[in-house]
This record gives sequence, structure tokens and C-alpha cells, in this order.
Amino acid sequence: MTPDQQRETAVEAALGKLDLTGKVALLAGADMWSLPANEDIGLGRLVMSDGPAGVRGENWTADDPSVSVPSPTALAASWSLELAHQTGRLLAQEARRKGAHVVLAPTINLHRSPRGGRHFEAYSEDPLLTGEIGAAYVSGIQSGGVGTTPKHWVANDSETDRYTVDVRADERTLRELYLAPFEAIVRKATPWGLMAAYNRVNGHSMSEHDELNNRVLREDWGFDGILVSDWTGARDTVRNALGGLDIAMPGPVTVYGEHLVNAVNEGLVPEETVDALARRVLLLAARVGLLADAPAVVPAEQLPAPIDGEALVREVAAAGMTLVANDGVLPLAAGLGSVALIGAAAAEARIGGGGSAQVFPTRVVSPLEGLRTALPQGTALSFAIGADPNVHLRPLAAATQARFLDRDGGELGSVALPDGTARWIGQLPAGLSFEGLAAVELTGTLTPERTGAHRLGIRGVGSFALEADGEVLFDGLLAPEGTDPAAAFLNPPERVFELELNATAPVALKLRYLLPENSGFAGFGLVSFLLGHGEPIGTDDQLLDEAVAVAAAADVAVVVVGTTEEVESEGVDRASLALPGRQDELVARVAAANPRTVVVVNAGAPVLMPWREDVAAVLLSWFPGQEAGSALADVLTGAAEPGGRLPTTWPATEADVPVWEVAPTDGRLDYEEGLFIGYRAWQRRDGAAPAYWFGHGLGYTEWSYEGLELRLLAPASGGADPYAGVAEAVVRVRNSGARAGREVVQVYLCPQDGDVTRPGCALAGFAVVTAAPGELAEARIELPLRAFQIWGGVDGWVGRAGDYQVRAGRSVADLPLSVALEVPLPS
Ligand code: BGC
Repeated sequence: MTPDQQRETAVEAALGKLDLTGKVALLAGADMWSLPANEDIGLGRLVMSDGPAGVRGENWTADDPSVSVPSPTALAASWSLELAHQTGRLLAQEARRKGAHVVLAPTINLHRSPRGGRHFEAYSEDPLLTGEIGAAYVSGIQSGGVGTTPKHWVANDSETDRYTVDVRADERTLRELYLAPFEAIVRKATPWGLMAAYNRVNGHSMSEHDELNNRVLREDWGFDGILVSDWTGARDTVRNALGGLDIAMPGPVTVYGEHLVNAVNEGLVPEETVDALARRVLLLAARVGLLADAPAVVPAEQLPAPIDGEALVREVAAAGMTLVANDGVLPLAAGLGSVALIGAAAAEARIGGGGSAQVFPTRVVSPLEGLRTALPQGTALSFAIGADPNVHLRPLAAATQARFLDRDGGELGSVALPDGTARWIGQLPAGLSFEGLAAVELTGTLTPERTGAHRLGIRGVGSFALEADGEVLFDGLLAPEGTDPAAAFLNPPERVFELELNATAPVALKLRYLLPENSGFAGFGLVSFLLGHGEPIGTDDQLLDEAVAVAAAADVAVVVVGTTEEVESEGVDRASLALPGRQDELVARVAAANPRTVVVVNAGAPVLMPWREDVAAVLLSWFPGQEAGSALADVLTGAAEPGGRLPTTWPATEADVPVWEVAPTDGRLDYEEGLFIGYRAWQRRDGAAPAYWFGHGLGYTEWSYEGLELRLLAPASGGADPYAGVAEAVVRVRNSGARAGREVVQVYLCPQDGDVTRPGCALAGFAVVTAAPGELAEARIELPLRAFQIWGGVDGWVGRAGDYQVRAGRSVADLPLSVALEVPLPS
């Protein structure tokens, strides 16, 4: 028997031993992150954990750290399938270390609008790039024997009213854009799972969508993995079961369990449907090695060699950093006398976006630390905050004790926390339960670094009492803001108090949180709040003046600007693309003081850069993960080349953005732009050009594009496999600069049939090449059948024979080579 047959046999044997209740028990969470074990059938407890930028595990606190990898936009910006695969392997290693069997990743929704709050967590505005990077990442994780769930299936491209919004999109738009990366990943990388989005598509909630889940995904594409709900997204027993939802998460309170047993007994759901769902859950368990008599897909002795996480994260971060403008100031000259580093994010890098993708890093290298280590002895490094765009206080940095109290104030237990963050969702620290828990009290000692007005803050929803050295600063209620049910832990309100303190005179802090009578969120217990602190840092004007002074005195100024947690996070969309706070003013003033100003943009999604033509260089560092500062220093000093190319077009103004609206009207969000998002839309514009086009990015050498040849592959390859090559493009590029370099060669297919319903030019393939100075490199890029097809409704995918231009170059707007291609396709 092959391992596949062995798994199938074991699954059927296990299923045969279960009665209806036993089968139904497999289909819902036992708790926040796991499916229940069943000893009678040799089934182990199956744990899922969030990704995609690290594996958090079952705890949402800093005392259980994870390797924090660069955010998906950074990974996509590398255009490197090799690094995406390696990142996946690292995450499998992390999942195993943390006892997780499935990573809830990757996020492969599209960058439909730059306002999407989770833009940082997805790859690109282009479905081909998204699918390629996603497939490499999935196969990397699964090569480590750990499952994946590409998410959120489908059309969860913005956050406003995400639980209920009904996305309206025509079939062609869905097929050619939003379904396309899911299809590519399902067909190429066989993910063992998928996560259903909260939203509706054309009237049906995605966890109930019979047509998309059962027909398209399973029948047409042959997907044999599990479909898990997004957390709390399963809302209707019968429709979820009939709609093909295998797992309702989290538990223990779900619409499955006894509700599903009753629905079967009442004849509303056939028992065979439950069998089909249970069979897929058992197959997943078998694949990850949790079912008796079934070989894991990757047996322990075949696990890949361990990966050095810190080294890989540093490499990926540098490979994703995208240099969009450079007058030659970068890489920094070796003999510089002094560098001024400016910006709040230079001292405290934003390493990842907010929400469920958050992980707590094993360490963080800030740009300040990274540069201090990398700059030669003789180069002086000065620092100024310049502008602090953060609206909320950071958690108290001092170690904190959390005490768990009963109704009479008796201590049920206590744990030490690394900072002032209290967060337990569904599960409390070992030995404690939500039963009988009445209050959680944080205590810590703050030893001020500076004399002056310090700020203390409470961030959370509920009833709080805050004391400093016995004096009560607050005793009352903080109410939630907004309507997202998860806002209480994703975007809670904050109350700030000022306190005059003397440097080095310690003050004892106590923050008590009273759990409400009906505590919890969607059936599971929740404690989530933080005790924040801010040192006196001076007025905004003082900060700006200080920055200008250090910039004027240095040979080069490096300003790190970026977005904040309030701007880019799960659960909310962005109101504006402007940098928050006074950061634009900061850049403008620093640039006026020092012509050699380099701006580093620490953001996961496009921001406006009104000063971009007045500075010497602009480097996008995205959310670079925990090794942020080391990778940034590598790129600034030239130890590494900035490898990134834009995975998404960056607009110059908000008014030009092709798709701005992300809020539903009467519950509906119409994707009325159809296929025209991102560069597909910009190409149709007369007049308005973006700041930087899709694909753009500079390295530290020059390339000349010398030749493009096409070879038609047998048209027969235009058979069943939509990813088989129809033609091969051979692109010759020469490194015409003075140092070795890496280039991302991009090939676009531009139909010449005058059909205005088709985008002008669309990415059809790409390859990474490297070459020494003067050396010629050859990229061989297959153009897949799918690039020559359109969705023809009842006719399905229709091949479009005829005239095309195949263009090659370094961005969608810079394509020096072009060859005509006539395609004789079987239709
Ligand atoms: C997010 C998912 C995530 C889940 C569990 C949801 O709110 O949309 O991406 O995996 O929570 O944290």
C-alpha cells in the first residue's frame, strides 16, 4: 500500500468506529485553538496556530515568544520563491516547537485597495505573484509536516464590517482575480486546509457557500483538505454543514456539536454529509501524524534540516527591502564621518502588523542597534525621535506580576509577565480557569529614566482601577469603540493619566481589571488589557527642532517613518494614506537641513510621500520582522543589496487611487471596478501616474536588457493543466554596473486583440537572476496557459488565440524588450 492508501484505510477504519456524536465531535474546536482527541480511534489533539508572519502558538503573550518573520508584503517584494519556501520551512519548525499541527496561513487576499487594514498581511495586487509566492510558502510549511490554511476564502480584501459585508463581484472578476491565487495554490501545492472568510460573496456567507466550496473548490479543483471557519465565523448549523464547512472554530461553543446531531436526526442534514466532513478532518489528522496506523506525510526521520531562524529572517527582510529612489547616496560611502538617525521607529521598529498575525518575537533588533553595530568605528551615530506618531502608549517595559483573584479577593494564582500586557483568550495560564475568576491585577515598579510628566495608561474594555504608590488615578469603566465584535482585543480604547515623577525614584503601580458577569467573547473567556507607560519626551515642536539640528550636523541623515498600530491593523480599514502625526513635516524639514537625506518607510502598505522628490533616497522596509535593524543596516551599508520590487503600485495622491471605497452600502460592497485593480487600473488612466509602479525597485548595480526570444511550446500542453507553459520567454540581461547584483526579470503579456474588457498588460511570469559585473544572465520564463485564457461564463476557461506582445523588463512601466507572439491555441 502507498502511504496515501494507508492513510485512506486508517481514516475509513476510524470513521467506521464512530457514531454520529463521535463524528460530529471531530468538527468543532475543543477550545480556542484545538480539535479534540479521541483515544478510542487513536486520534490525537490537533492544534492550529496563527500565522502568517510567525507561529504564535496557543498563547497570546510575550512569555511564549516566536521567531517573527517579515510580513507578507515584504516576502512578496522579494519575488523569491526560494525565500518563500525557506520561510515556510522555518514556520514548520516553529510550529513543531510550539506543538502546532496547522498554521493558519498564508493570507492570499488581494491588495484591491491600499486602504485595506490587513494589506500588510497579504502579498500583492497581482494574482499570479500572490499565487506563486503563496504556493512556495505552503509547500515550504508542508514539507515540514505541518498543515496550512490559505485564507480568507474569498474576497476578504478589506476589513470594514468584515463579519457581514456582502461582496458583489461578477464571476469573471472572481475567477480571474480573487479566486486565482487560491486555485493556483490548491493545484500546485495541495494545501491540507483552507480558511473560509467571514464575509459573504454574492449573497452567501463564505462558510456556507455551496457553489464555491463544494462545486468550485472541491469538484473542479480537486481540493481534498479541510475548510475551517474563520474564528466565530460559523453561524448556521445546517447551512454550514451543507455548505461544506468541515470545522467550526473556536470551541467549545459552536453551531456544530449537539446542534448538528439534532439537525441530522431531524433530517435537515444527511448523515453522509457529516461523514464527508469527518473524513476530511481525519485525513488532516493522518497527514500531520495524529491518527493511529496512518503514516504522517513527512515522517519524523524525513524532516528537513533545521533552519537558523535569525539568519533567514535577516536575509528575507533585506531581500524584500525596496529601494524606489536613489540619487547615489546609497549604499552609504565607506568613509562617512557621521550619520544622524531620526524617527520613533528607528528606536522602536514596527516589525509586524497588528491583529491575529501578531507574534511576540524572541528579540528585536532596532534600526538604531543595527546601525550602531554595522557602522565602522570612525563613523559617529546620533539619534533624535523627530516625531512620534504613536497614539497609544507602549506596555510598561518593566516586569509585571499578574495575580488572578476570586470574588473575595483571594489569590487563585499568579504569573510573571515580561511587560504590562495581559492577554488570555479562551485559555488562562496553566492551572487556572475562567470559572470563579473575578479579577486580574497587574503590579509592577516603574523606575523613571527622566524627570518630568510621565504618562500612564489603561488600554482595554471593562472595569478598571489604577493606583500609583497607593494613590487612585482611576476607578471606572472603559467602553468599546466601533462595532467590530473583536475590537475589545484588537483595537481597545485607552485612558491616559499624567504623573510628575523624578528620575530614578521608583513608583509602585497597580492595575486591577474586574471581569464582567458574562465575561467572554463569542463563548470563550477573554482577558485583554494593558498597562501603558510613556517617558516625557518633549513637545512636538521640540522634537522636530532637535531632529533638524542633528540632521544638519551629520554627513547623512536617515529618517525612519512609518505607520502605527492604529493605522494598519486587522479589524479596521485606513481612513487616509498619509503618514500619521507630523512625519511628513519631519522629512521635509530634515531634507531641507541635509541634502543627503535617506527616508526609510516602515509600513506594510502604501503611504503618501509628498517629499519623495526632495530627498536623496527612499527605501521601503515594510514590516521587516524581528531582525529589522540588522537587515536595514545590511542594505544601507551595502553589505546586502535591496532585493525588493514592488508587489503593489504605490499612488502619489489619494485622489488617484483606482479603488478607494471599502465600506459597504446597505451591507453590500460592489467590486464595480471588475478586473481593474492595481496596475490593471492604472494602465487605463490618462494623466494620473502613480508614484511607483508595480514591479519597480532599484538595486545597487545597473542592468541592460539585451534580448528576448520566444519559443512556442507544444500547443498540446494547453490541455488540462492551466499552469503548463504555452511559450517560453528567454530574456538576456547584462549586469552593466560595477558590482555583483540580483535582478527580478519580469515578463508581461499584452493582448493585441483590442478587447477592452481585458487588462492591457498582465504579469505572466518572472525569474530572479544574479550576475557579476559585466556578466550576462539568461532568464527562462514559461508563460502559462492560464495567462492566455479568460473566464467565459458557461464556457468555463476559454483560450484566446491570436496576437500578443510579450514584453520583458523591470516593472510594468519599464519594459524595454518586446516581441510579437501569435498563439495558435486549441480553444
Ligand atoms: C482572523 C484570522 C485568524 C483568526 C484566529 C480571525 O479574526 O481573521 O485570520 O486566523 O482570527 O486568530
